[in-house]
Amino acid sequence: MVRNMKKRILTGDRPSGKLHLGHYTGSLANRVKLQDEYDQYILIADVQALTDNYENPVKVADSVRELVLDYIAVGIDPSKSTIVLQSQIPAIAELTVFYLNMVSLNRVLRNPTIKAEIEQKGFGDSVPAGFAMYPVSQAADITAFEANLVPVGEDQLPMIEQTREIVRKFNNLYGNTLVEPEALVGEFPRLIGLDGKAKMSKSLGNSIYLSDSVDEVNRKVGQMYTDQTRLKPTDFGHIEGNPVFIYHDAFNPNRQEVEDLKNRYRNGQVGDVEVKRKLALAINNVLEPMRKRRADLEKNPERVNEILKQGVEKGKVVSGMVLKKVKQAMKIDYKF
Ligand code: TRP
Repeated sequence: MVRNMKKRILTGDRPSGKLHLGHYTGSLANRVKLQDEYDQYILIADVQALTDNYENPVKVADSVRELVLDYIAVGIDPSKSTIVLQSQIPAIAELTVFYLNMVSLNRVLRNPTIKAEIEQKGFGDSVPAGFAMYPVSQAADITAFEANLVPVGEDQLPMIEQTREIVRKFNNLYGNTLVEPEALVGEFPRLIGLDGKAKMSKSLGNSIYLSDSVDEVNRKVGQMYTDQTRLKPTDFGHIEGNPVFIYHDAFNPNRQEVEDLKNRYRNGQVGDVEVKRKLALAINNVLEPMRKRRADLEKNPERVNEILKQGVEKGKVVSGMVLKKVKQAMKIDYKF
């Protein structure tokens, strides 16, 4: 028997609408690379999305399909990466219930990510218990697939720390059973918005979506913020912190062109129009293969079902084995 010696990696997303270029530079581009080196699982965390969208389950369900389209569009290959739909994996729910005993209420509520999110969502006195406890269910996501590594942004580090604590507590109590994961922090800084705001975000309306057409990209780039102190093309311009050049650095593979534009910009020898036209072209070149893959998949909706089904089947097997080990360790593997 050939053993798969690749390390297991697990990433996850809450389905919440279409993905933008910030998602691509921040995590998706990395996943496309990681799928060759690692045994990669990608969890569509729809149960987690429901913790603050329980009044809107159809929105979550629609976003699941949207997310699969985005994954395939960016080049995630279902024969290399296992895409798992969380709500269809009963072992995750069962593990969550056991893990809830491995952590104190205070400890979960002190989780900085949860604390910040609770504040930001304005729940007031009515924080849904499921929402407050989602870090515990995230520990179940990670351990259900025996992930060694979890690629995350900085904001998710407290989740991994919480998972590690739960794993250690469980293993101390019941014997060495669960795999303790490590975080793999992404090297890409967050992509700023088209308006120069700290991040590209759907709610800020400052995003280019992976599904945007050529015309939409051209229009959005045309409206991008540049150097606010520069009034005419012959003024000396600033590169640092300038959204159009940050994007050129991120998306234009022609380094020579980018350096030339920067030099001329600094010296007042190029207008915004040329800088933006070249940027729009570079972004459209990145998006073009995505548009093709998306269009192919959209023609074949049954394929989306197949991808989900195949991932869930495999996910059930792997997580089922972990759940079995957990029940054995806890002496609740009754055989009647
Ligand atoms: N909490 C993550 C987010 O909001 C999504 C997620 C759910 C996740 N389960 C996970 C991330 C497991 C990594 C591992 O983006």
